[in-house]
Amino acid sequence: MNIGFIGAGKVGCSLGRYFAERGHEYGLCVKGYFSRSSKSTKDAAHFTKSQAYDNMKALIRECNVIFLTVPDGSIQDTWNQVKGYDIKGKTICHCSGAMSSLDAFEGIGETGAYGYSIHPLFAVSDKYNAYRELPGVFFTLEGGNILSGNAEKEHSPEFISLCRTMKSMGNPTRIIEAENKTTYHCAAAVASNLVCGLIDQSLQLMYRCGFSQNEAVKALAPILVGNMAHIADTDPTQSLTGPIERNDTITVQKHLQCLQSEDEKELYRILSRRLVRMAQSRHQDRDYAKMKEILADK
Ligand SMILES: NC(=O)c1ccc[n+]([C@@H]2O[C@H](COP(=O)([O-])OP(=O)(O)OC[C@H]3O[C@@H](n4cnc5c(N)ncnc54)[C@H](OP(=O)(O)O)[C@@H]3O)[C@@H](O)[C@H]2O)c1
Repeated sequence: MNIGFIGAGKVGCSLGRYFAERGHEYGLCVKGYFSRSSKSTKDAAHFTKSQAYDNMKALIRECNVIFLTVPDGSIQDTWNQVKGYDIKGKTICHCSGAMSSLDAFEGIGETGAYGYSIHPLFAVSDKYNAYRELPGVFFTLEGGNILSGNAEKEHSPEFISLCRTMKSMGNPTRIIEAENKTTYHCAAAVASNLVCGLIDQSLQLMYRCGFSQNEAVKALAPILVGNMAHIADTDPTQSLTGPIERNDTITVQKHLQCLQSEDEKELYRILSRRLVRMAQSRHQDRDYAKMKEILADK
């Protein structure tokens, strides 16, 4: 399987190096890169010991799997160029979590190519080190060609082989339906981005107690990391501790009094109501009625 990347950024470089190092024994060959700038193209080729292409046409001709690892906003434009070449039977992939293959590859059915979205459920934060973190990362897959008159998707042999290889490399995968991609991406954003918002709220409260930023981040790190490790080992309900789970209504009332703005109070109440439901499912004999009253919308 000859793999080419259009777009030599964080994901293109990381996946390329990962496939080159670990996929080689399973028959994956990273042929090379074409990117907007020749510097990115050459750096990525050097990093993955592959070829730097100075045009898209040559890369497409020599590869049977082509990843469009450009920013989401450039995927459709890039696809419009790619579909101008002979891509019959080729496997075209993008890595966006939010877009489906059909959102991105309009008219792919007429080209005879197979379209996929292959999303690493991971924050790829830099070009040259993130590949080390990819073992064990979950990949969500979507796409294939709809056979006429049949709801079943037809997959390319390369896609089937890629799935098998990723499994052998220790990367779990799951196929999801196109209509679920936005919901799936929203789930990832809640678990990753929204948690950043909550931690920022926690830091603001630490600053009010006199902590510096550095102190506050260091002080919170063990509780954050420990909590995440418990969640990853079990689930959020089993990992839940604190005043809501204990049904300590006095402490929760005090928390609400120390929060300054209505936004802060609302955030606390909304999330805490969710925690009450989780706590109740764990302690069915406990009466959380007073807690619910304290946390009701004001
Ligand atoms: N980063 C993440 O955490 C992450 C995680 C999962 C999925 N993804 C997905 O992966 C994809 C790539 O994201 P990224 O984070 O790798 O982005 P990125 O670091 O910004 O890299 C994008 C690369 O594409 C190149 N490029 C832009 N427009 C182009 C065009 N028209 N033709 C050819 N090359 C072009 C850029 O060009 P030059 O350098 O050549 O100028 C850049 O190197 C996106 O779909 C994103 O949603 C990202």
